[in-house]
Amino acid sequence: MLEWLKQPGFFGTHATIGADLSQFMATLFTTLFVIGWVQAKHQRGNHHHWLMLGGMVAMLAFFTSYYLFRQLGVLAVEGKEGFGGSQQLYDHVFIPLLTFHIILVIIGLVMAVYMIVLGFRAQAIAAGKRILKDALLQTSWAKIGTIFGVITAVVLLLFTSRVVTSGFSMRKLMVYFGLLLLLAIVFALEIAIQRIWPNGEQRHRVLGRFTMIIYCILFVTGSTTYTMLYILFPGKVG
Ligand code: HEM
Repeated sequence: MLEWLKQPGFFGTHATIGADLSQFMATLFTTLFVIGWVQAKHQRGNHHHWLMLGGMVAMLAFFTSYYLFRQLGVLAVEGKEGFGGSQQLYDHVFIPLLTFHIILVIIGLVMAVYMIVLGFRAQAIAAGKRILKDALLQTSWAKIGTIFGVITAVVLLLFTSRVVTSGFSMRKLMVYFGLLLLLAIVFALEIAIQRIWPNGEQRHRVLGRFTMIIYCILFVTGSTTYTMLYILFPGKVG
């Protein structure tokens, strides 16, 4: 399978099948999200719900399994080998662009899960139509603490079972600790966000627009990286 992903791609560029598949899926998901956004703007809550929920879940499933499989960050680690342009271009354009893209990927992944949860919490069905409740939507510190506690327990259990089956490593510890830290940051941010937009409907609209903008920039930066690597300045890889 890994070998198959390294075969020449189907777009006819210098990319591998893996890179082309990734670019194709990114285009497909971005298109789905934009259509879902337009549906929300036209007050078609049901269409919006299914497009966003289906699209985000499929996107999370595809990209996490794909990148875990391909060993996260192969491109960034291999670095210069994959890029055929000048050192100047690599240092001042390619790497800053890739770094920006990866930061947005992390924000985008967090926002995908956050928005799905917020969508379910803020919605109501009125006369068969899915709408957003124009009401306060707040969670207490106690509730957030309980949710965080339960998730921490599950993560610790997972970590322990991994250590028992395949041994302890510092890297593993850092990954699980990083996950919990990210979650703690998100929960702390949520408290601040709730103060700024206490109304569930308003919060979903404001953060939804923010998420959509992130996804559009993600698509542009991702496609630019693809173009630089596999069309304009192909290197040894591919
Ligand atoms: C997962 C990512 C999601 C994003 C990025 C998102 C984004 C948005 C945005 C931007 C709007 C306002 C549109 C506008 O006025 O400009 C909106 C409205 C809405 N969203 Fe979401 N949403 C997401 C998921 C969900 C989910 C999972 C549900 C339901 C469970 C949902 C239910 C709704 C409803 C009912 C509206 C109101 C539509 C109307 O105005 O009648 N959303 N969303």
